[in-house]
Amino acid sequence: MAISYSNDNDVPNNTRQPRKKEVDSAERTGLLKKTETDYDERQEQTIRPKTLDDYIGQSALKESLLISIHAATGRGEPLEHTLLYGPPGLGKTTLAMVLANEMNTNIHVTSAPALERPRDILGILMSLEPGSVLFIDEIHRLNKVAEEILYPAMEDFTLDRTIGKGHAAKILRVPLPKFTLIGATTKAGALSSPLRDRFGIVYRLNFYNEIELNAIIRRSAEILGIAVEPQGASTIGQRSRGTPRIANRLLRRVRDFVEVRRKGQKSINSAAAEEALNLFEIDPLGLDPTDRRLLSLIIENFNGGPVGVETLASALGEDARTIEDVYEPYLLQAGLLNRTPRGRTVTPNTLRHLGLTSLDDVVEQKKLISE
Ligand SMILES: Nc1ncnc2c1ncn2[C@@H]1O[C@H](COP(=O)(O)OP(=O)(O)OP(=O)(O)O)[C@@H](O)[C@H]1O
Ligand SMILES: [Mg+2]
Repeated sequence: MAISYSNDNDVPNNTRQPRKKEVDSAERTGLLKKTETDYDERQEQTIRPKTLDDYIGQSALKESLLISIHAATGRGEPLEHTLLYGPPGLGKTTLAMVLANEMNTNIHVTSAPALERPRDILGILMSLEPGSVLFIDEIHRLNKVAEEILYPAMEDFTLDRTIGKGHAAKILRVPLPKFTLIGATTKAGALSSPLRDRFGIVYRLNFYNEIELNAIIRRSAEILGIAVEPQGASTIGQRSRGTPRIANRLLRRVRDFVEVRRKGQKSINSAAAEEALNLFEIDPLGLDPTDRRLLSLIIENFNGGPVGVETLASALGEDARTIEDVYEPYLLQAGLLNRTPRGRTVTPNTLRHLGLTSLDDVVEQKKLISE
């Protein structure tokens, strides 16, 4: 399987320096950020699963994909267009590459912001090899023109090109090779419905459970030559927010901690993992300082909510989209946040987790302080 890229954002090599804007947003989104140091980026590439067998968890999705793959290969056809959605770091890009590999075909990787001009998408479509995969990341950000070019391409494997102008204009149908479009998005709701309807397969990726995270950590540790005890892997897994990207990143950070602070210790055990993660301010549920600040803000400034995401974003100095896409999904899943029609609210779990007794007490305390 050959992988080609059409924008430098996707290039997994060590030559690209992060741009200033990326660095800023990387700092803000802390552990969840996509941009990493070159060294981390290279390590991430080595641990990325290549086959469905190596791809841990998401078992229902894997099973039904296996059926689709076998059916398509049996008929000698490409896989149906597939949409993968879910929070960052759960394995959408990885799965797209795994699918191309399992279909024994090439993959061209791009992302919607790189397809600004019509000729960007036209160029890619016309250069696709028969049966290959076109992967478009952040597909909800595709502009209208690019979307309209994609409709006939997805449906009939043709391009509609307008030749001439005014009355003399004619639409010429240009045939394309059959291909599979794999789209990935953190926001399936933001996809236009005509585009969404053209995907034959639509899957939501779920957060991973502790056993799966454990397996991911042990697999990565083995590839990277990091010795980790089962209990050590569990501790890291528990604090990984159900997300493989975070699990891998925490594993590397704990490894660094042990190398520097526990010289002579041969492997990562639970105590070392706990000490390291406490030092990095990752709490037992995997929340980082921004998560906790977000929750405390709702409690202290908005009396537990409801508060609109825009208001919350400006109070936090964050971008509302980052809150929605990056922070909220896990907080919702962990039962620490509720999304209501009037805004976000905290739950009794939130108070318990932050070591607070009741909302009334917090309000009372605030009054005392301000008096
Ligand atoms: N099922 C899995 N088994 C093992 N490792 C995984 C799995 N899914 C993801 N990973 C690891 O997690 C990392 C992040 O995954 P990936 O880049 O595919 O996430 P993503 O869903 O595309 O995130 P984003 O929305 O930020 O683009 C990968 O480099 C891979 O090593
Ligand atoms: Mg991705």
